[in-house]
Amino acid sequence: MISIRKVKSVKGELRVPSDKSISHRAVIFSALAEGESYVREWLSSEDTLATLNILQSMGVEIYKEGSNLRIIGKNYNFIEPKNVLDAKNSGTTARLMLGVLSTQPFFSVITGDESLRRRPMLRVVEPLRQMGAFLDGRESGNKLPICVRGGNLTGIYFFNKKASAQVKSALLLAGLRAKGDTEIVEPILSRDHTERMLKAFGVDMLQMEGKDGHIVKLKGHQKLQATEIYCPADPSSASFFAALALLKEGSELLLKDVLVNPTRDGFFRKLIEMGAHIKYENLREISNEPIADIYVKYSGKLRAVEVLPEDVPSMIDELPILAIVMTFADGISRVRGAQELRVKESDRIRAIVENLRAMGAKIEEYEDGFEIEGVESLHGSYIKTYGDHRIAMAFSIAGLLAEGETLIDNEECVAVSYPSFYEDLKKVCIQ
Ligand code: S3P
Repeated sequence: MISIRKVKSVKGELRVPSDKSISHRAVIFSALAEGESYVREWLSSEDTLATLNILQSMGVEIYKEGSNLRIIGKNYNFIEPKNVLDAKNSGTTARLMLGVLSTQPFFSVITGDESLRRRPMLRVVEPLRQMGAFLDGRESGNKLPICVRGGNLTGIYFFNKKASAQVKSALLLAGLRAKGDTEIVEPILSRDHTERMLKAFGVDMLQMEGKDGHIVKLKGHQKLQATEIYCPADPSSASFFAALALLKEGSELLLKDVLVNPTRDGFFRKLIEMGAHIKYENLREISNEPIADIYVKYSGKLRAVEVLPEDVPSMIDELPILAIVMTFADGISRVRGAQELRVKESDRIRAIVENLRAMGAKIEEYEDGFEIEGVESLHGSYIKTYGDHRIAMAFSIAGLLAEGETLIDNEECVAVSYPSFYEDLKKVCIQ
């Protein structure tokens, strides 16, 4: 439990930890490649360490050199793990690894913590079965633990209706070892780090627009060639600091080296639509990803805003902190088409509504989102995080803005994506 009180303002420069999605992929793709890869500024957090440990238990050699990793690739020839693989709290680990395990002829079992064992897996299990892998698990394969015996795959066509980057990535990784082509069509483009990074590893793929959406297509039996990957700062982690700076009078922050990939920066674009003072500076590209320093300044009263279903994928993980920002805006804000929030690390719609209401916000719950009428202030309260890192961080920011004391239960869950969150807050907060 941590106690949080109102802060005066925030000031300074901060390089938040590296991107979680890119760090997972960098270590997995390096392990799948032929040769020795180097990953710079790798995020070391509970989620990404779960991925790293699983790869090590399948014979991958990984050497930590400061904040970098040197990885000896196995060219898809892993060894059968001697025990159950543990993805802990990490959906990305579980779903991407199910794709990888489906290429391997051996037996494996993957599980996770209580939260991950509640989350749906059929979205990835079903298409992998169609490709020819054997997978089974609780609830007919929808829930972990799931066992896999893979190999002898054939490429498929898959329509990614839920715009899940985890499913897309799992199928592309399996498709690289399959017979024939694997084609994925998305009505709304989900985060495209897998496509960008696979290109850096020398994979040949076709990307185009079709009548049903964005198409990515690759041929099977391709090798990944070892390379060097840089992991930029995580926009999801940066979002908490940006929200605090623009809502707290007298604040000014420079968030350094942040990933501003258009499939990920929807939160920042939405804030600009609300009237926030945000600028991308020093825009550049490293490892096929756009990066910028994001300048944020106190912006006065913001305008209410609507988040439409097509906006959701590019800001899905930032919706808890966006809800806090909406609470202080002028007018009624809405989020629709965000039903996926119900199957994240917690039921995030429920957690947002319940905790914001306890702090005095005017919020209505929808099955697929919420509606918030702006108020002048929030009051401190007891916050239930449900062990969800993004709920803990979003409501810590709410606590810094509220009157009185806010108590956050189980705040150590921030270690899933941002182990130094509270230390970094101290660095920029002025009391
Ligand atoms: C992720 C994809 C998203 C996101 C998650 C990370 C990824 O999930 O919410 O935090 O790294 O591919 P879905 O694939 O379920 O949309």
